[in-house]
Amino acid sequence: RQRVVVFISGGGSNMMSLLNATTDPSYPAEIVAVFSDKADAGGLAKAADRGIATFAFLRKDYDSKEAHEAAILAELERQAPDIICLAGYMRLLSGAFIGRYEGRILNIHPSLLPLFPGLHTHQRALDAGMRIAGCTVHYVTEGMDEGPIIAQAAVPVLPGDTADSLAARVLTVEHSTYPLALKLVAEGRVKMEDGRAVIEDPVAQ
Ligand code: GAR
Repeated sequence: RQRVVVFISGGGSNMMSLLNATTDPSYPAEIVAVFSDKADAGGLAKAADRGIATFAFLRKDYDSKEAHEAAILAELERQAPDIICLAGYMRLLSGAFIGRYEGRILNIHPSLLPLFPGLHTHQRALDAGMRIAGCTVHYVTEGMDEGPIIAQAAVPVLPGDTADSLAARVLTVEHSTYPLALKLVAEGRVKMEDGRAVIEDPVAQ
């Protein structure tokens, strides 16, 4: 099974959805560790409860972004992940970091990219009068939320929606979309080539 390290900054519900998927022995990936840049991220305790190794390095404990990332990279050397999954990790990785794991870092973003990258995505979708919203799993490249798209799922925007109610609806499809996307990557059925996600034609199998 492919070794996965999950990066979180918060509650970690996406991390838990990945962890739950990996409990099926036929799933092609396993989570070997969870990293957070926040010591109090709720997801850290949830992962530890399930017997997963956790580590936290806080940005404020380092003089520079480079030093912070060096600490993370050193621990990653030990964990030897094949794939890194960002799951609510709210910090941009440097080009040097991404280059070290080129084509092997995934992220989930709660919008239908390329619409609404970055913060406040749900409010911006509502302000734009969108009638659908959704989530995107994509390869991480240097541009924020810009990498090649692996999988997406859509939900309706309903009358009376607030950013919170829309976020909650999108989150429910995040929890099925991320395990699906990770499965495709772990099985080698999708790859990043020349800046695009190349997905194997299921008919050609
Ligand atoms: C999720 O909605 C995820 O898509 C989003 O943060 C939430 C984390 O929830 N990520 C971003 O906004 C990344 N820029 P979780 O901690 O419960 O998985």
